[in-house]
Amino acid sequence: MEPRCILLALGCSWSILDEVHIIFLAVHPNYRQRGLGLAMVLGLLEQAVGRGANYATLEVKASNQAAIALYEKLGFTIAGRRPHYYEDTGEDALVMWRSGLQSPAFNAQIAFHWQLIEQQQPWQWDRE
Ligand SMILES: CC(C)(COP(=O)(O)OP(=O)(O)OC[C@H]1O[C@@H](n2cnc3c(N)ncnc32)[C@H](O)[C@@H]1OP(=O)(O)O)[C@@H](O)C(=O)NCCC(=O)NCCS
Repeated sequence: MEPRCILLALGCSWSILDEVHIIFLAVHPNYRQRGLGLAMVLGLLEQAVGRGANYATLEVKASNQAAIALYEKLGFTIAGRRPHYYEDTGEDALVMWRSGLQSPAFNAQIAFHWQLIEQQQPWQWDRE
């Protein structure tokens, strides 16, 4: 039987003082490269900015070019490497970092990407 609804994407973060840590991000394999991953991260960062965050960080597998490209799109840069961080493969993690979340430039960058997603993708967003 077909499921009645499908979870298309999920993103989680935690906030500590002025820092948000993106701890999980995944998009259903059949729905990738349609803006959902970017939208998840935009939503997480937007909420974090509203709570006062000025810095964002995350770990990503060093081989995960898709995720790295996504984060770089939003101004994240590689700040370090944690050797053998992932238990399943023993792969290194790259630590990525983004500062200036409270700046008008970052606010404009978020708005720019939302606009592009809304123009180019079929999704309807409830961002409240
Ligand atoms: C990484 C992931 C979340 C991306 O989600 P997505 O919905 O496919 O990404 P989007 O469509 O929003 O793409 C946003 C940007 O990410 C980058 N990107 C996404 N998929 C890519 C791919 N296969 N190759 C290269 N870059 C890619 C591009 O820069 C893209 O921007 P563009 O469309 O202008 O080129 C998804 O591939 C995924 O769930 N992967 C498995 C789980 C995972 O790796 N999570 C990240 C853990 S840190």
